[in-house]
Amino acid sequence: MKVIAIVGSPRENGNTNTLVQQVLEGAAEAGAETKTYILNEMDYRGCQACNYCKANDECKLEDDLVEVFEELKAADGIVFGSPIYFSQFTGQMRLFLDRCYSLVNPDYSSRVPGGKKAVLVGAQGMPDPAAYAGVFEEFGGEISRFLGMEVKDTLIAAGGAAPGDVRENAELMEKAKNTGLNLFK
Ligand SMILES: Cc1cc2nc3c(=O)[nH]c(=O)nc-3n(C[C@H](O)[C@H](O)[C@H](O)COP(=O)(O)O)c2cc1C
Repeated sequence: MKVIAIVGSPRENGNTNTLVQQVLEGAAEAGAETKTYILNEMDYRGCQACNYCKANDECKLEDDLVEVFEELKAADGIVFGSPIYFSQFTGQMRLFLDRCYSLVNPDYSSRVPGGKKAVLVGAQGMPDPAAYAGVFEEFGGEISRFLGMEVKDTLIAAGGAAPGDVRENAELMEKAKNTGLNLFK
């Protein structure tokens, strides 16, 4: 089994990636091979709407997302992590998601092999974990509708500001690890 994480936070030691790594740790304990992509460290552009991917089955842009798309197609599980910035996922994650248009056929069916499990991880300053429920539901809907993945779990680090604040929430940290452990059960 292979599980990859795609992280839209620029803070590698932030609350998003701290939770994401808990999920990966659980998955690794269950025997999975894991890998993390920090979008902020990667060289990629937003979709150029050239529609090359509708006449061909790949994106025309040859940048760091080529590898991510290959790994995404090959992985059994994908963890998508992003903080909330101005009530949305970060620009880094939104740019990535637009590029996932190249993983979709002209009739909007998915080019990604089926059967993959997805986990959503979020972080936000607002203490109410439900404050952005619509954002997580919409993102999960896009992932399942366009990429054909089953969203197994959504984990939200709420009320944190400093990097790693989420470590104080032992219950959530354990839940994230168990999500990884049980991803394929
Ligand atoms: C540019 C920016 C915009 C933000 N906007 C929001 C927001 O709209 N709602 C919110 O609850 N928190 C907001 N925050 C707080 C972050 O979501 C919070 O600090 C989170 O822990 C950051 O994730 P990270 O620790 O993974 O970097 C914002 C932070 C930044 C830097």
